[in-house]
Amino acid sequence: MLAYTASIGFDVRLAPDDIAGTRAHVKGLLKAALLTADEAALIGTALDRVEHEISEGTFIFLPTDEDIHTAIERRVTELAKDAGAKVHTGRSRNDQVATALRLFTRRALTDVATKTMQLQRVLLYRAEAAGEAYLPGYTHMQRAQPVPLAHHLLAHGWALARDVDRLLDARRRTDVSPLGAGALAGSSLPLDPDLTADELGFGGRFDNSLDAVSDRDFVAESLFALALLGTHLSRIGEELVFWSSSEFGFCHLGDAWSTGSSMLPQKKNPDLAELARGKSGRIIGHLTGFLTTLKGLPLAYNRDLQEDKEPLFDAIDQLTGGLEVLAGAFETIQFDTERMKEAADHPGAAATDLAEWLVEKGHAFRQAHGIVGALVRDAVERGVPLIDLVAAHPELGQDATALLAPGAAVARRQTAGGAGQAAVLEQMERFRTRLAADADRI
Ligand code: ARG
Repeated sequence: MLAYTASIGFDVRLAPDDIAGTRAHVKGLLKAALLTADEAALIGTALDRVEHEISEGTFIFLPTDEDIHTAIERRVTELAKDAGAKVHTGRSRNDQVATALRLFTRRALTDVATKTMQLQRVLLYRAEAAGEAYLPGYTHMQRAQPVPLAHHLLAHGWALARDVDRLLDARRRTDVSPLGAGALAGSSLPLDPDLTADELGFGGRFDNSLDAVSDRDFVAESLFALALLGTHLSRIGEELVFWSSSEFGFCHLGDAWSTGSSMLPQKKNPDLAELARGKSGRIIGHLTGFLTTLKGLPLAYNRDLQEDKEPLFDAIDQLTGGLEVLAGAFETIQFDTERMKEAADHPGAAATDLAEWLVEKGHAFRQAHGIVGALVRDAVERGVPLIDLVAAHPELGQDATALLAPGAAVARRQTAGGAGQAAVLEQMERFRTRLAADADRI
């Protein structure tokens, strides 16, 4: 049964947080005169030793250590003898494990947000370096209107900005200490949950002990923020996959960021992009799986809650890796801006601008849409260049053919947040400001 119920196989990584929680608890016990200064010092020395043994890999785990919390307490008791036997006074593994996991999650959310910002910075730098390059923007995967490459890269950057916001928002609700809730009802001993919360640098303490030990909202919402971040990475990954295909040819991944084929010598595969796309599946699975674990659980602690760790750890690890490789890939990716331009400069790309030109001449947009639509159809059906039909049209004429010039559509765009070059420069400035503000929040 122990093999089945143990969590030591995966919760060792909570060791630093368990030790931090225990140190705070020891302070509380000392303040409450439940430990003498000598006893507290003995425990402190034992904790230092345990910390060292774990980080050096010399800590000896016993088959009866069902989780990291039992293992650490067992070892502290071996080292600090009678003093060690007092360390669990007024504490339960229920508030202990919730405390350790909150400390871990608070730090992990910070780390993932930091990594997300690194990818944002690479996207910004590539956007800055993209100059006036443009490519087709798509709707329904059909060429729609040309957009600057910078605008396209920043579109992903803004999605990541919302991820950073969500991660930090989840961190705020994670930042509550459950220590002192005991098994479920607090304690008859004169312990002070505010003191330990403060000691651990938490924003505050729990309000209700039953809630404190059974609340795993912070895991669920972290998993959601991570799953959505993973979803964004999957969309970036998908784009890299088809942009780097021979059919699109919009980019080439650096050699160090692509893989070969075991059989086909000519292949350069975008495996990292495919995995950024593919791994999002399991992260979404972790979210739905864990919500299902929580659903219908009675108050307060139930062992089901131990199922919180593996999905959270895996989601964090997978995203950390995904963010790193995507940042690396974008740093070295070569954009084929000629190829993008060729794809963007097809005459149909100016259709909307032709319609808007007619609007400026007094047409209702619906009429203008009809007129241009008919011209485009005519051009395709009769195999006549659109530019000739535009020139010959009584209401468009020679002047309007300027709209068909390469890049004209991008140059004419003027609305804020839109895909005109000036608007994109302004957007870039806003993006830089946002990055600086988020860096401060982190
Ligand atoms: N390993 C457990 C967990 O991760 C620790 C809490 C166990 N508490 C208990 N009363 N059995 O949730």
